[in-house]
Amino acid sequence: MTTRSIAFHSYKGGTGKTTLAANLAAKLASEGYNVTLLDLDVYAPSLQVYFDYYPETWLNDLLSGNAKLSEVMVDISSTVSKLVADPGKKTGKLWVGFSNPQKEEIYKMEGGIGKQKNDKIEFLRKFIQVREEIIDRYDCDYIIVDTSPGVRYWSINALALADAIFLTLKFGDLDIEGTRKMATDLYNSFTRFGAKSYLLLNRVAGYCVPESSQAPHLHIHHDKQEMTRMISSLPVTDEQEIGKTLSEQVGMDLISAVPCYCDIQFSRKEFLTVLEHPEHPFAKQLEKLAMSQQIKSD
Ligand SMILES: Nc1ncnc2c1ncn2[C@@H]1O[C@H](COP(=O)(O)OP(=O)(O)OP(=O)(O)O)[C@@H](O)[C@H]1O
Ligand SMILES: [Mg+2]
Repeated sequence: MTTRSIAFHSYKGGTGKTTLAANLAAKLASEGYNVTLLDLDVYAPSLQVYFDYYPETWLNDLLSGNAKLSEVMVDISSTVSKLVADPGKKTGKLWVGFSNPQKEEIYKMEGGIGKQKNDKIEFLRKFIQVREEIIDRYDCDYIIVDTSPGVRYWSINALALADAIFLTLKFGDLDIEGTRKMATDLYNSFTRFGAKSYLLLNRVAGYCVPESSQAPHLHIHHDKQEMTRMISSLPVTDEQEIGKTLSEQVGMDLISAVPCYCDIQFSRKEFLTVLEHPEHPFAKQLEKLAMSQQIKSD
């Protein structure tokens, strides 16, 4: 299979890009695919929190020419295989490239490197090179990219790596006009070169389990039995319907409509939901996404 690269992007912040990118990457790896996950939200990196990992070398060092790719990519595969329920299941590799959350490093990315005219071309070249090197060296089926929201310099650069852009929209604070404008103006420059873009609606409607609504900050996850009971009591909603209407308004195909679950919202380790609680409806939704035809190829 040729490598597919998928970037999660949004117009506004806090739409679920990082949660979805980390979960999708973990899900694909658990299904036997080789995956690299890149934190290209250089303005506000957060994957290190999700994976509880603080490397010595970061993507920033790679992009500024101070480190090699092999020094930056962290092999997280054993975490995936440990968490998969069936120990006999063949899982894939998961490599993660982290972005440095230190203030000075963010500042450097923001104001320093990449801002001069010549630097810009050099940077784009570097980006394309990184993508090619990942494909060559890591034999990966997927490159999943987390990006910064909006149209800032690095958000756009990160999109240049993608074959598919998943525009993540959070239900509730929709900005249809802004989103549509971004989808047409910005994405067109990528789709002209063959990239596809899809609408991904997140946190549609809301499910709150009685226990977690009592003390959401204390209630992280349910045990399996409790989870099964909870799932069977969830109301059936029309999130696909809502998604269809929005996709028409925004003018993009809908790839998924993920409901809002308050146990995920208040959990600190949501990136492992797909592995730790494969029965959770969020995990089921991600599984559907991971297995969808649009994810595999176009
Ligand atoms: N389907 C969901 N149900 C409930 N909570 C969710 C869901 N998806 C994401 N969240 C929660 O929403 C919050 C924002 O998610 P996340 O950090 O992934 O967004 P983001 O788009 O990466 O934000 P930013 O633009 O700041 O990088 C997190 O607390 C996350 O747990
Ligand atoms: Mg994020």
